[in-house]
Amino acid sequence: MHNIYEILPDIYWIGGSDRRLERFENMFPLPNGVAYNSYIIIDEKTAILDTVDSSISALYQSNIEHALGGRKLDFLVINHMEPDHCANIEEIVRRHPEVKIVGNQKTFQFIKQYYSLDMSSHYYEVKEGDELSLGKHKLRFYTAPMVHWPEVMFVYELTEGILFAADAFGSFGALAGNIFADEVDYDSSFLDEARRYYTNIVGRYGAQVQAAFKKLAGLKINMICSLHGHIWRGDNISYIMDKYDHWSRYEPEKKGVVMAYASMYGNTENVVNCLALKLAQRGVKDMRIYDVSKTHPSYIIADVFKYSNVVFASPTYNMHLYFPMDSLLRELAVLGIRNRKVSLIGNHTWASAAIKSMTEIVKTMKDIEIVGNPLDITSSLKPEQEAELDALADAISRSILN
Ligand SMILES: Cc1cc2nc3c(=O)[nH]c(=O)nc-3n(C[C@H](O)[C@H](O)[C@H](O)COP(=O)(O)O)c2cc1C
Ligand SMILES: [Fe+2]
Ligand SMILES: [Fe+2]
Repeated sequence: MHNIYEILPDIYWIGGSDRRLERFENMFPLPNGVAYNSYIIIDEKTAILDTVDSSISALYQSNIEHALGGRKLDFLVINHMEPDHCANIEEIVRRHPEVKIVGNQKTFQFIKQYYSLDMSSHYYEVKEGDELSLGKHKLRFYTAPMVHWPEVMFVYELTEGILFAADAFGSFGALAGNIFADEVDYDSSFLDEARRYYTNIVGRYGAQVQAAFKKLAGLKINMICSLHGHIWRGDNISYIMDKYDHWSRYEPEKKGVVMAYASMYGNTENVVNCLALKLAQRGVKDMRIYDVSKTHPSYIIADVFKYSNVVFASPTYNMHLYFPMDSLLRELAVLGIRNRKVSLIGNHTWASAAIKSMTEIVKTMKDIEIVGNPLDITSSLKPEQEAELDALADAISRSILN
């Protein structure tokens, strides 16, 4: 049975959710699944905006048939060619041989790369600023390169003021009936997952997100339809725009500290616990501590984007870093994290390398301030080194509270 929802007169959400998938991109845990959104406009001409992942293809095809109600499909707009959205193009072309596939040069290059069926007779190429009239509804195309992939486009629907924003403004998490962000308790139930989605999936492309924002600056946007997660409308648009503005400028949302430690036998963990209590005594609130071997890095990365300060603590391991810490730091560097205040703690038993290795990776990030003197302990924290830890706590608390 079809599963569709009329979001505005003659505009329907025809997507669906996957609650079984273990990991997005086979990498990021999905404790609450993920939604793949697709939309259809029924006007003098009919148009679908993006398709969905192969996991929900059967439902998706029946959604399309129901929404069309026997009408022919005129246009299939492809804003993003990543397979979580483009998996159904060939099936749609087979079922609707008259359809025109709307995309740009890069879109068509990628269609050829992903599909063996030659669909070139269906191509309808658009460029920046082109418009396509469906009757009452008119679509305008904006390129948004690298707002996740190079072919990405945003579509602005002029009659209602809807921005179809590809992956932007999306989130992990399946939908539960309520399709609009204003129908759920977003702050407590979804914001953390939206941040984890953005920072890990699109995080590297902050400059491109900012460039796309500039293009949209003059538009009156009444609704944002993303390819994942909830639809934004009304006051919620400025709420999510403000979050995206922080994330894409690598500006912390909050003054506070995330501590990520690696520890085999508990001694490095102990230093971090001591430091956290000292910070609490000095008035620092809302601290986060993560064991890098336990918590998936995507959660730690999301919090590093959220907070102003980070502490990394790791033992020396084979004259380098404990591997999950090495991996976390390198991921953060690739995602382009910058503008953070970083403190370092190392631990070694016979020859120290952790501080040096962490410093080398952190140095590749822009606008990083090292707060306090890096503290290197030998095997376990001893009262003789407490003064150094106090000094580090003083420096971190000053940096957060001032
Ligand atoms: C496989 C392995 C490799 C290690 N390599 C080094 C090393 O190269 N240099 C060193 O000083 N300590 C090395 N250590 C010792 C650790 O640094 C030591 O276990 C750590 O100081 C204790 O911290 P923890 O209790 O938080 O794990 C190694 C330990 C293990 C288990
Ligand atoms: Fe994507
Ligand atoms: Fe996506």
